[in-house]
Amino acid sequence: MKVEFYRHNLTEQDIANTVAVLHSVFLTTGPRTAQFEAKFAAYTGLPHVVGLNSCTAALHLALMGLGIGQGHEVITTAMTFIASATAVLHAGAKPVLVDVDPTTGCMDPAAVEAAITPATKAILPVHLYGTMCDMPALRKIADKHGLAIVEDCAHCIEGELDGVRPGQLSDAACYSFYATKNLACGEGGAVACQSPELAQKIKLLSLHGMSKNAAGRYHGAYQHWDMLTLGYKCNLDDIHSALLVDQLDRLDSQWARRRELYQRYEAGFEGFPGLARPKVKGKSGHHVYTIWVDPERRDDVLHGLQERGVGVAVNFRAIHLLDYFRRTYGFKPGDFPRAEAIGDSTISIPFYPKLTDQEADYVIEQVKAVLTGN
Ligand SMILES: Cc1ncc(COP(=O)(O)O)c(C=O)c1O
Repeated sequence: MKVEFYRHNLTEQDIANTVAVLHSVFLTTGPRTAQFEAKFAAYTGLPHVVGLNSCTAALHLALMGLGIGQGHEVITTAMTFIASATAVLHAGAKPVLVDVDPTTGCMDPAAVEAAITPATKAILPVHLYGTMCDMPALRKIADKHGLAIVEDCAHCIEGELDGVRPGQLSDAACYSFYATKNLACGEGGAVACQSPELAQKIKLLSLHGMSKNAAGRYHGAYQHWDMLTLGYKCNLDDIHSALLVDQLDRLDSQWARRRELYQRYEAGFEGFPGLARPKVKGKSGHHVYTIWVDPERRDDVLHGLQERGVGVAVNFRAIHLLDYFRRTYGFKPGDFPRAEAIGDSTISIPFYPKLTDQEADYVIEQVKAVLTGN
C-alpha cells in the first residue's frame, strides 16, 4: 500500500469556480477575493481580512503595519517553520527565539518574559500543529511591557483554547493557504485583525503602496492612482480565491474528519513503547499529526516508513540550528533544549480528510513494525 503524506480535497465545484474566473475579465484581485475576505472574516469572527499570497507575507506586512522594523526585536519560537522568523527579518527587525513547552511544542510564556529587552516590540506566537499557545498569558505579558502580538496561525484556523480563538487577544492573526494547509489553494494567505487602520495599511503594503488596485480602477472613467508608500507585491488573486470560497464551507466538516483520524491514531499508538506524541490542548486545528521517537533512531524510522510506502515529513527541526541562523546569530546546540528535543525526535505522518480508516490503520501498523524492527 502507498499512503501519500498529503492529498488535497478540492472538489469539482472548486475547480469549476476557478475555471469561471479564467473565463472572466478579472484574473487578479477582484470580486472573488473580496467575497473570500468577507467569508473568512465571518468564519474567524474578526472584522477585517486582507487576502495575501502567503502567510509569510501576512506576518511580514502585519509587523510592518504595526510599525515594527529597524532596531526592534520580535520574540518568536525556535520550534516553528522558518517563515515565523524570516518575516521578522523581512520587516527589518531581529527575531529573538525562545524555548517551548515540552509537552505541546508551543512557546513558553515564562521564556518570553525572560527574553524581553528595551528593544522588544512584539511577540509572535505559533500555534504549533494546531494547538493554541497560552494567549491569555501572552496578552498579560504584552500589556505589561507595551508589546504587540502577531499570531502565526498557519496551523490553526479552527482552534480555540479556554474560549479564546486566534486573533481575539492579538493585533493580527496570520493564516496560510499553502498546498497542504487545512484550507489550501496552492499559495495563499491572509491577515485577520480587529483594527480597520491596520487592515488598510496591510492592504496598501500588499500592492506596491498604490492608492487603487486594478479592480478599483476598472469601473467608470479612467482613474489615476498614486503611490502612497513603498509597498510589496503579495496580493491574493481571484484565481486562488476561487479555490477557497466554497472550500471554507467544508472547513468544519474536514476538521471533524481529521479529529476522527487524530482519535484513531491516538488509540492505535496508546501505550506503545518508544513512541510519544505532543499534548493537544483545547480545540486544536489538527493540522499536523506527529509522533516523537528516540532521536538516535529518528532518521531510520523516517526512512523505514518511506520504504513501506508511508509519506512522512519533519515539522520541524529547531530553526536556530539551521545554517543561516547559526551563522547569523551564533546559535549552537543546547541553546533551546526543549525545541531541539522535539526537532530531533519528530516525524509527521499522513493526516488529511481523504485518508481512509484503512490507510490510517496501515500507517499505525507500519510505525509499530518499524519501531520494533519487524
Ligand atoms: C508555522 C508556519 N508558519 C508560516 C508558514 C508559512 O506559510 P506560507 O507558505 O503560506 O508563507 C508555514 C508554512 O508551512 C508554517 O508552517
